[in-house]
Amino acid sequence: MELNGVAALVTGGASGLGAGTARELAAAGAQVVIADLNMDAGQALANEIGGVFVATDVSDENQVRAAVAAAVATGRPLRVAVACAGIAWAARTVDRSGAPHDLDSYQKVIQVNLIGTFNLLRLAAAAMAETDPVGEDGERGVIVTTASAAGIEGQIGQIAYSASKGGVIGMTLPAARDLAAIGVRVNTIAPGILETPIYGEGEGAEEFKRRLVAPVPFPKRLGTAGEFAKLARALMENSYINADVVRIDGGLRLPPK
Ligand SMILES: NC(=O)c1ccc[n+]([C@@H]2O[C@H](COP(=O)([O-])OP(=O)(O)OC[C@H]3O[C@@H](n4cnc5c(N)ncnc54)[C@H](O)[C@@H]3O)[C@@H](O)[C@H]2O)c1
Repeated sequence: MELNGVAALVTGGASGLGAGTARELAAAGAQVVIADLNMDAGQALANEIGGVFVATDVSDENQVRAAVAAAVATGRPLRVAVACAGIAWAARTVDRSGAPHDLDSYQKVIQVNLIGTFNLLRLAAAAMAETDPVGEDGERGVIVTTASAAGIEGQIGQIAYSASKGGVIGMTLPAARDLAAIGVRVNTIAPGILETPIYGEGEGAEEFKRRLVAPVPFPKRLGTAGEFAKLARALMENSYINADVVRIDGGLRLPPK
């Protein structure tokens, strides 16, 4: 898929991996629409890259419809959608005091990470179906979703987050099969530990990240949003990659904790 001249919608594009991907897409010549809850950071990045910001909660049907409509309204064909919006959560199924996991927070994580991803996927794909196919393959678009290594080897306390990300991984193949008829590819990135604001700030967050990085084989550091963005771009530009789940993790396999 040629990125120059297309419209690209990035949820979670105000921060971290989504922001890195928005920058990469803009550098490739795409008109980027950032859909995020964070209005200040989203608008600032949209200004920086000549894009459009739409205040969006990915779990809300009408708000994602509006974000897709904004992408279509750029006048460029919507050919790229990236799902980066996500939230982290840590709680055990039964905690040390014997209390069961609170159901509201479990539902919230599923709502944002899993249902929010599907909400973008279905609405962006429907808009892509309205575009003219391009090239010898008749491709209309490409969708990249973001899971996590935790969706494969969930750690202690990651029951909600892992279920949400495992769901995103499980969606990849059936979505790619469903959307083949309209020439849309679907791939998923499963990151390990990448440096973004998702881990919070301060000494506690730094200590947490040091602990997470310890079992990374090589290179022994956190990955970067730029490295994620380059992978996302490769998945978009290389049309033969479809229905795939690609890890970016320095070889990390998450231990139980
Ligand atoms: N950073 C990592 O190490 C890592 C590892 C594995 C997976 N991931 C996943 O990558 C994705 C991006 O994470 P990040 O590290 O860049 O985090 P981040 O916190 O820097 O960015 C997430 C963005 O999503 C937005 N967001 C949250 N809820 C939203 C909602 N309901 N609607 C719209 N926007 C919403 C936030 O405002 C924020 O801008 C997430 O899905 C995360 O689970 C990150």
